[in-house]
Amino acid sequence: MKPLHLFLFISTISTLWLTSTSISTITPNQNISDGQTILSDDEFFRMGFFSPSNNSISRYFGIWYNKISVTTVVWVANRQTPLNDTSGVLTLNDQGILMIIDRTNRSIWSSNSSLTTNNPVAQLLDTGNLVIRNENNLDPDNYFWQSFDYPGNTFLPSMKYGFDFVKGLDKYLTSWKSDDDPSIGEYTNRFDRNGYPQILLRKGSEVEFNSGPWNGLRFSGMPNLKSNDIYTFGFVFNERELYYKYELVNNSVVSRMILNTEGRLERYTWIERTLRWQLYVSGQMDDCDRYSLCGSYGVCNINDSPACGCLSGFEPRFPEEWRGADWSNGCVRQAELSCGGGDGFVKLSSVKVPDTRRSWFNVSMNLEECEQECLRKCNCTAYATLDVGTGRRKAKSKKRVRAIVIPVLVSVTVLLGICLFVYRKRKQKQKKKNELNSVVVFHENNTVNDSTKEDLELPLFDFNTIANATDNFSDECKLGEGGFGPVYKGILEDGKEIAVKRHSRESKQGLVEFQNEVKCIAKLQHRNLVKLLGCCIDEDERILIYEYMPNKSLNYFIFDERKRNSMDWSKRYSIIIGIARGLLYLHQDSRLRIIHRDLKASNILLDKDMNPRISDFGLARSMEGSDGRANTIRVMGTYGYMAPEYTIDGIYSTKSDVFSFGVLMLEIISGKKNRGFRHANHDLNLVGHKEGDHKKQNLHLVILNGAHPTT
Ligand SMILES: *[C@@H]1O[C@H](CO)[C@@H](O)[C@H](O)[C@H]1NC(C)=O
Ligand SMILES: *[C@@H]1O[C@H](CO)[C@@H](O)[C@H](O)[C@H]1NC(C)=O
Ligand SMILES: *[C@@H]1O[C@H](CO)[C@@H](O)[C@H](O)[C@H]1NC(C)=O
Ligand SMILES: *[C@@H]1O[C@H](CO)[C@@H](O)[C@H](O)[C@H]1NC(C)=O
Ligand SMILES: *[C@@H]1O[C@H](CO)[C@@H](O)[C@H](O)[C@H]1NC(C)=O
Ligand SMILES: *[C@@H]1O[C@H](CO)[C@@H](O)[C@H](O)[C@H]1NC(C)=O
Ligand SMILES: *[C@@H]1O[C@H](CO)[C@@H](O)[C@H](O)[C@H]1NC(C)=O
Ligand SMILES: *[C@@H]1O[C@H](CO)[C@@H](O)[C@H](O)[C@H]1NC(C)=O
Repeated sequence: MKPLHLFLFISTISTLWLTSTSISTITPNQNISDGQTILSDDEFFRMGFFSPSNNSISRYFGIWYNKISVTTVVWVANRQTPLNDTSGVLTLNDQGILMIIDRTNRSIWSSNSSLTTNNPVAQLLDTGNLVIRNENNLDPDNYFWQSFDYPGNTFLPSMKYGFDFVKGLDKYLTSWKSDDDPSIGEYTNRFDRNGYPQILLRKGSEVEFNSGPWNGLRFSGMPNLKSNDIYTFGFVFNERELYYKYELVNNSVVSRMILNTEGRLERYTWIERTLRWQLYVSGQMDDCDRYSLCGSYGVCNINDSPACGCLSGFEPRFPEEWRGADWSNGCVRQAELSCGGGDGFVKLSSVKVPDTRRSWFNVSMNLEECEQECLRKCNCTAYATLDVGTGRRKAKSKKRVRAIVIPVLVSVTVLLGICLFVYRKRKQKQKKKNELNSVVVFHENNTVNDSTKEDLELPLFDFNTIANATDNFSDECKLGEGGFGPVYKGILEDGKEIAVKRHSRESKQGLVEFQNEVKCIAKLQHRNLVKLLGCCIDEDERILIYEYMPNKSLNYFIFDERKRNSMDWSKRYSIIIGIARGLLYLHQDSRLRIIHRDLKASNILLDKDMNPRISDFGLARSMEGSDGRANTIRVMGTYGYMAPEYTIDGIYSTKSDVFSFGVLMLEIISGKKNRGFRHANHDLNLVGHKEGDHKKQNLHLVILNGAHPTT
């Protein structure tokens, strides 16, 4: 036989082998063209070119189950760069890089193996893992590349799901765009390493579900993850790696986990009898699995109607929203905590540990030490064990958690072992989750000067967002100048109009007022109060973001001859009633009970329907501790509106606000400013004006009777 014939013979054989797919490896300069496939040694998996649906011309290289009659793709190489025709070829080059070449000999996808090697081979393993390794080296640690490091939407048995700190790999699931388009969709399901690790399922950047931290047995938020006959599972977290993994008990039952195109985590098992994939378990079981459904300090119980409630010792932040089934703003404490003042913890069982991104942990602490540590840190709100397995054994010999001093503190099971702190959650988008299985909540740092971002319980806006919305705080956007800095009109990217109050950087004064305003108004919610949407703290920037009031403030109307005429009596009456309602809420009905101290026409804003909204809480004071009795304080306010006892002796109470309200009412009716009032017969101001006195009494009666004032 001539050498040429021998060569042809061998190449025919190898082509036959490839097409008959009886070998699982390819060597350099061998290739797989469209139509050829390769099987794993146990013939469980097959790889080759495919189209995700019959009516798609796109061609992808991927791996699918060989023995399952419904073609189920578990991995796709060129998911972002499909081929348009069947000219694609997969080859392994001499450097050990797998490439997909199109008809123009262009590489449209390649494996990322950076190490060059002698005698590389690519092999489809029995696990469905496509690896590149040295011909003679079977050690998984020495693979140059493996498809398991680049999963798509499928999490296969024996895959390490998570981080390889040594190699700098982060292995996570990304959904397909649709069932016939494997390109990267909206959803990701990925370990988050902030605090104690948990897995976060996101749509874009928005968290939709969290697994909860590993509690020694399972992910705290996945109670269905139990030992079973089909697969075993485990979690590893050390300096080298962090991963979750599962293995099939018996390969005769096929099981896989996917992140589907709607963002659901689902585990399926193959049922040979029916020739179908059967849903075995789903990560998200019910509404309570929606991230932060009930907001901060809320708790979700699917058997309740409505499912959302507050933890004991807490109440809805905005009861009206709550009644309207909008729970996203969560709950607030009924009684403030005093850090180090004897407050303790309350145990919460059978709940999911909340979002741990702001937690701290120490694996060598026992639960008692953890509790002590949490008590010491004023920003620590809850603690839990990291290992309920080891904890449970010792728990019985331990006393129950210490006495509860104030019924606000909640803690977790008495389990010993390892320690996990949960810091109070930021009250913004990344709110805590609160479903079945949770620990929750406790100390809050309420010293006045500590105005960290965490203290504000408000959505935080990014400085750049605000700068963009206000055209970089341009003069065109300026609405006016308040006592503590300018106010701008802004338009957010989604088109929402906002008013932006930027506290002047220089004034130390401004900072105190800023904190005061935030603390007051963040806790208030009434339709006659202006609504604070959020704030922004960036270096020395202190910015408040309010809803935008298109009709500016009352002083633009009542002190302007022309505009005043557009305000008929019924309008003025409804404005007066609105202000009175807002004030009544501040004084009596709100949780904080507030004295405003600077009620005046320019602080009454008008919304698009001309409803009054009380604004500017920079000088407001809480009545807490004062029982509504008079307090003395440095006099601040606006001349013309301040009650005499306040101006002269610095004594203020709700009555000072009522005085200002009276002045305001006179101004609304007369269209004249109290300060600057001139009368031919005397030197008194509007309040002192005799006829006014007379009118005032009548008016008072009329308003009480609910009729419209007439002159
Ligand atoms: C694929 O391999 C065959 C022979 O095995 C060779 O003729 C062909 O050129 C190769 N194609 C590519 C794109 O490498
Ligand atoms: C796709 O085509 C194959 C072979 O022609 C056929 O058996 C299969 O039912 C088709 N699938 C769909 C979803 O139409
Ligand atoms: C597929 O076809 C489209 C349109 O003809 C072209 O833009 C694209 O580059 C092609 N893709 C490949 C991988 O050849
Ligand atoms: C394809 O490209 C490779 C390297 O870029 C080259 O060695 C090979 O000859 C090319 N093949 C064809 C058919 O152009
Ligand atoms: C390939 O490796 C580079 C750097 O090593 C990395 O930035 C890139 O994301 C990797 N690409 C893929 C598809 O893994
Ligand atoms: C796996 O399951 C098959 C079929 O049920 C059974 O015959 C076999 O003995 C099992 N193997 C093991 C190791 O349990
Ligand atoms: C963790 O806890 C142990 C036991 O209380 C303590 O000795 C150690 O210093 C702690 N480590 C850290 C980093 O706090
Ligand atoms: C809590 O306070 C401690 C100091 O007491 C600080 O080191 C830590 O960073 C704070 N943690 C959070 C989440 O604010």
